[in-house]
Amino acid sequence: MSLPTINPTQTAAWQKLQAHFELMKEQQMQVLFAADPTRAEKMHIEWQDFLLDYSKNIATEETFALLQELANEVDLKSAIEQYFGGGLINQTENRAVLHTALRSKQTEPILVDGQDVLPEIAAVKAKMKAFSDRIISGAHTGYTGKAITDVVNIGIGGSDLGPAMMVEALKFYKNQLSVHFISNIDGDHVQELLKRIDPETTLFVIVSKTFTTQETLTNAQTIRTWFLQSASEQDVAKHFVAVSTNLQKVQEFGIAPENIFPMWDWVGGRFSLWSAVGLSVSLAVGYDNFEQLLDGAHDMDVHFRTAPFEQNMPVVMALLSIWYNNFYGAQTEAIIPYNQYLQKLVPYLQQGIMESNGKRVGRDGKPVSYQTGTIIWGEPGTNSQHAFFQLIHQGTKLIPTDFIGFKQALYGNKDHQDKLMSNFFAQTEALLMGRPETSGLSPFKVFTGNKPTNTLLIDKLTPASVGALVALYEHKLFVQGIIWNIYSYDQWGVELGKVLANSILTDIETGQIAAHDASTTFLLNKYLG
Ligand code: F6P
Repeated sequence: MSLPTINPTQTAAWQKLQAHFELMKEQQMQVLFAADPTRAEKMHIEWQDFLLDYSKNIATEETFALLQELANEVDLKSAIEQYFGGGLINQTENRAVLHTALRSKQTEPILVDGQDVLPEIAAVKAKMKAFSDRIISGAHTGYTGKAITDVVNIGIGGSDLGPAMMVEALKFYKNQLSVHFISNIDGDHVQELLKRIDPETTLFVIVSKTFTTQETLTNAQTIRTWFLQSASEQDVAKHFVAVSTNLQKVQEFGIAPENIFPMWDWVGGRFSLWSAVGLSVSLAVGYDNFEQLLDGAHDMDVHFRTAPFEQNMPVVMALLSIWYNNFYGAQTEAIIPYNQYLQKLVPYLQQGIMESNGKRVGRDGKPVSYQTGTIIWGEPGTNSQHAFFQLIHQGTKLIPTDFIGFKQALYGNKDHQDKLMSNFFAQTEALLMGRPETSGLSPFKVFTGNKPTNTLLIDKLTPASVGALVALYEHKLFVQGIIWNIYSYDQWGVELGKVLANSILTDIETGQIAAHDASTTFLLNKYLG
């Protein structure tokens, strides 16, 4: 079975939404709130320790009914079943998309090519747990017999952003290990790291799904050469492990089979955090916390798979995003976590969302005639309030914004927490209500309000709640891809640059500049001096 190829603009629901938009485009949320004081009571979803208040959107009950009609017309329900069931929904790469299996608790097999993937997942998890325990306890020592104190994750994209974001997010739960991330091929990045670590006490985790990524292999090679300045070849096994699908290439690099943590084709790089790609997370916070992260994500999977659309957080957030992107012409969405631990959440979600839904060809192989992937950006509050919020409040662009906040501070500092959260609530109120024009008020001080926001209020930042939060956005982007009739799980768009970089590297190394456009030739000549 494959995903249907339904052009959303050809559905009856889309036509109705278009007509409905004509009535809504001048609608003010302030008026909607005044007309219905129970609006927030109606437009929110409570699920476990999450509350999503989506009442501050330029939408009525009719808007939601029509958006759900759209979801039904594109057969979202059966697409969800294909996604969870191991259908080859990454059709352009002929692969299943099964990051959800990595956190599944089901006992019935999940089949890929007729093979149940659950036993292999369990085996890799057991290996991660045993390895994490040995490193954290100091049972595994480095080549001079000292315990490991530092872990370096060498990877890029999905092999970096997920673990780096999560180690930062779960810092409160961290053990004694210092965990570092090296990703950029910029040699200064790796040199800065090497200044700070000791080869005797550092473990290197090379993470690359393909094990062909230029940045990761170059960094790994540089680090290995540095390591061998003080250690010998047989010490490599104690200090280097790898996470990859490409077992042959890993072994060619000199990593012993027992030091390889396998992953699989059916896990996309940007969704691989839940696999052995999360090894650095398991090392940083211990395997039990890693397991709780998976459990939280799994609970969100169950919610997404089973809740009716009107009570389904990822579906509601995706539909609202479609409403603004495709009817209001909003080009970007901001995500503002009011939590410093989540400072890397947005760069992580940028890869997930923009690499997935940045597509211009529909599942029918034809260019789409409507907007697809949204631009995602943001920074934690309250810092962002003092940086770019001006534009959200008084600029000319419509920027739907998600606010993510927690009821409890982890260290329990009530003064800070109350001030933080008063800002959190004040911003969405200001964006909704604005400050109307009154006589004597300078026009520069008028705020129109009517700026849409979602508020996600979560009890506490825990491994489980962060797991659920990330899974929420994974499913949101899935729903959008289904409605936009695109293939969300390939990323051909990053290939061309890689190919050209290889040929330009040859030009630079040989000093012989091949045929390029005039600007690139000019720049290469300047670079080569
Ligand atoms: O170039 C994009 C990409 O393929 C991402 O999708 C992926 O997360 C990243 O490169 C790293 O790939 P790998 O894990 O194979 O090194």
